[in-house]
Amino acid sequence: MPTILAIESSCDETSASVCVDGKILSNYIANQTIHEQYGGVVPELASRAHMQHIVPVVDAALKTAGCELSSVDGIAFTQSPGLIGSLLVGSQFAKSLALALNKPLIAVHHMQAHVLANLIDDPKPSFPFLCLTVSGGHTQIVVCESPVNMKVIGETIDDAAGEAFDKSAKLLALPYPGGPLIDKYAQEGDANRFKFPEPRIEGLNFSFSGLKTSVLYFLQNAGTSNLFKEEFMATEEEKQVFIRDNLADICASIQQRIVTILLNKLKKAAMETGITDICLAGGVSANSGLRKAFSAMGQKNNWKTFIPAFQYCTDNAGMIAITGYYKWLAGQFADMSVTATARAEW
Ligand code: KG4
Ligand code: ZN
Repeated sequence: MPTILAIESSCDETSASVCVDGKILSNYIANQTIHEQYGGVVPELASRAHMQHIVPVVDAALKTAGCELSSVDGIAFTQSPGLIGSLLVGSQFAKSLALALNKPLIAVHHMQAHVLANLIDDPKPSFPFLCLTVSGGHTQIVVCESPVNMKVIGETIDDAAGEAFDKSAKLLALPYPGGPLIDKYAQEGDANRFKFPEPRIEGLNFSFSGLKTSVLYFLQNAGTSNLFKEEFMATEEEKQVFIRDNLADICASIQQRIVTILLNKLKKAAMETGITDICLAGGVSANSGLRKAFSAMGQKNNWKTFIPAFQYCTDNAGMIAITGYYKWLAGQFADMSVTATARAEW
């Protein structure tokens, strides 16, 4: 019955969670609003904010779980990937705590944890399952054979799905992070009004940079073309008026294209592997268009589909805690020489 205290600090959320025997008792998340005014996460400011948040966040997670530090059996933390300055805050804190309490350390891969967020609540997928992980930094299709054995079978060769949302939103002059706003406006819009191209990428990999360029030219031409045509370039004023008058339809059309790019590859992966338990994970799985289309595709193809609760989709320590629990069961501990790394192999 291990009690795991978990810490997540890979990007701009400081989070702590307590998990007892595979049940998440608390999942406390402090968001950093400082980045909004800069249109993206500023690494230096993120590290500083983690330093301010980490002690109160860990305290809050322990209190909510009704747990004393003395009853913690192991400390899990996000080792990689992420912003190095952010990762260092959480990893050094976890190592210090493990040393002070004389408890084992468990190093967790952030992307594996996103996948295992699907094992937090019931009903849970059976092994092997497929997971489409869609976040601000990654887009991956993963085959999960067991909690400690997974393999990436497809991933983006350029931008992540979340970046496609956020960069499109930026072109529409929406504040960062723009994904949730595109989702909101898309709900009122006609997704078939404007056409954006689907890239032709071999195998199970994704590409989103062409879509971003297409949106850029589309707006520069005030909707008359997706191509770079100097003679059709609209004035800044015409562009702003076009965006203002068509925002919902533009958002719905961009969202629909991102969703079809994602789900066409996921369907291909399901057909190639023959796996029918299929999960979503990552911040973009909060997108209402993706959730709806994913469930509909699941019904049509007789898949069992799973999406974690919203609080376990975006960055959170609950997913680090559940991964830590399974690594504990598998006896996978880290020693004190472990260090955070910005990039890492699986
Ligand atoms: O997993 P996550 O919280 O952080 C990373 O590990 O990157 O994902 C953040 C991403 C951002 O790009 C954000 O715009 C996107 O998830 N996102 C959404 C929605 N909610 C969050 N994108 C589209 N629709 C949403 N509702
Ligand atoms: Zn993440």
